Amino acid sequence: MPQSLVIQTAPLPVRPADVLVIYAAEGQPPAGAAAELWQATGIDWSRIAGPGKFTGKAGESLTIPAPAGIPAERALLVLGAGKMAEGSPPLSAFTDRGGSLLAKLSGKVERVGVVLDGPELTPQAIAEIAAGIRLRHYRFDKYKAPKPAEDNNDPPTLTVTLHVNSKGAVDHAIADRMHVVDGQLLARDLINEPSNVLGPVEFAGEIEKLHERGVEVEILLPEDMQKLGMNALLAVAQGSPRPPRLAVMRWDGGKVGEAPVAFVGKGVCFDTGGLNLKTGGGMEDMKGDMGGAAAVVGLMHALAGRKASLNALGVVGLVENSIGPSSYRPGDIVRAMSGTTIEINNTDAEGRLVLADALWYTQQRFQPRFVVNLATLTGAIIMALGHDHAGLFSNNDELAARLFAAGQATGEKVWRMPLGPAYDKLIDSRFADIKQVGGRPGGAIVAAQFLQRFIKDTPWAHLDIAGTAFGGPATETNAGWAAGFGVTLLDRLLRDSYEG
Ligand code: BES
Ligand code: ZN
Ligand code: ZN
Repeated sequence: MPQSLVIQTAPLPVRPADVLVIYAAEGQPPAGAAAELWQATGIDWSRIAGPGKFTGKAGESLTIPAPAGIPAERALLVLGAGKMAEGSPPLSAFTDRGGSLLAKLSGKVERVGVVLDGPELTPQAIAEIAAGIRLRHYRFDKYKAPKPAEDNNDPPTLTVTLHVNSKGAVDHAIADRMHVVDGQLLARDLINEPSNVLGPVEFAGEIEKLHERGVEVEILLPEDMQKLGMNALLAVAQGSPRPPRLAVMRWDGGKVGEAPVAFVGKGVCFDTGGLNLKTGGGMEDMKGDMGGAAAVVGLMHALAGRKASLNALGVVGLVENSIGPSSYRPGDIVRAMSGTTIEINNTDAEGRLVLADALWYTQQRFQPRFVVNLATLTGAIIMALGHDHAGLFSNNDELAARLFAAGQATGEKVWRMPLGPAYDKLIDSRFADIKQVGGRPGGAIVAAQFLQRFIKDTPWAHLDIAGTAFGGPATETNAGWAAGFGVTLLDRLLRDSYEG
């Protein structure tokens, strides 16, 4: 059984705990309630702090074992809070603070008390700390045998008590923020789940569970997609014995009749590459090639949980890109739902085919205010931006600027990449209206140009999350593989610019 986590709040002063935690800003002694606690230890601050010692930089820590004078059974943990910024730091500075707190705990710790008293610690900031603790605590260990009790240092439950000044407002902010964490952790679970367990049909089954939360769910079967002419998506699916699904999720929390905001996800439950088979190294990562779809599902989960006041739509195309006698071939020409014919050049560029039909369907049927799609689309975006930014492509400067700002606030950062006619020309085809791939140079941009051929005049943004959805280095808020990138970013976009 994984260790469970309880986060609760209580007023100051602190109560007895195994570990008590205080923060100190860079170059400063602890302040407020943290200063009182420190004084009770009787230790002179100048003995432990200063250049070459504890400086208060974010991520720094100092453990005082079994301190006298305060109710900490095992230790007092002093954490660096970083610079007291002029103006307000991004919210993600607080999420990181929570994550690094959890990362610093070791040994048999059951009860942790955290002093959160200071002018920068608004209810929203404290909610971010709570979110960071939960995000960092997450593990995907359901397939591992439990450790025998004698090697297991983790007590069954870790209780973290946040000691705060205005408990009512903080509890409210935490409850609201936790819905978004729930959505992000759901996305991680879906991405981490192996493909033998989670194929298109099983994924659609998980999506149906959103109905319990008030989300309307509709699942399109292969025959429905055939009738609609979604031959691009169906071409990818035809090599697999596991049939495709297209899932539509609607959260109607806004005004009746108001056009929805729309999110579309690539849900390739496993990407072998098809006949253009991928090489063996790292192919197992392709269980995460549904990271775009997982983010859309996580977002819908979050919006329903916090009862967001807007109409939002999620559409995900779920397929397996497999290899076999019925696989689609390079050279094949398929007619997408939009009527555009596509010459296939590489069966490993399957994601754009799935999105071509999912994007067209979304615009055609729902006339959304905007559409944002998320996809683990290209290896090229990983070469360009690594794991710290997703690629952002857009036909709309306002939407792009809002996404950029949401990325800076949440730490799920995006970097805008260009689009333009010189790139678009690369997908002109000798045999069909367009071809699917334009060669290696600018691969992520050419993929975006392909998607844009299926965008009408709807404001649109494409997030290429191949580098950020999974497989990056551990961060303050993620100890594992899948990140759940996109849920918090898009939740922030909606809160800041589209709700109310
Ligand atoms: N799913 C991959 C992209 C990918 C690679 C995502 C690594 C995450 C990690 C995508 O379907 C793909 O294979 N793209 C090809 C396109 C190429 C054939 C034009 C690529 O990027 O190599
Ligand atoms: Zn591929
Ligand atoms: Zn893929």
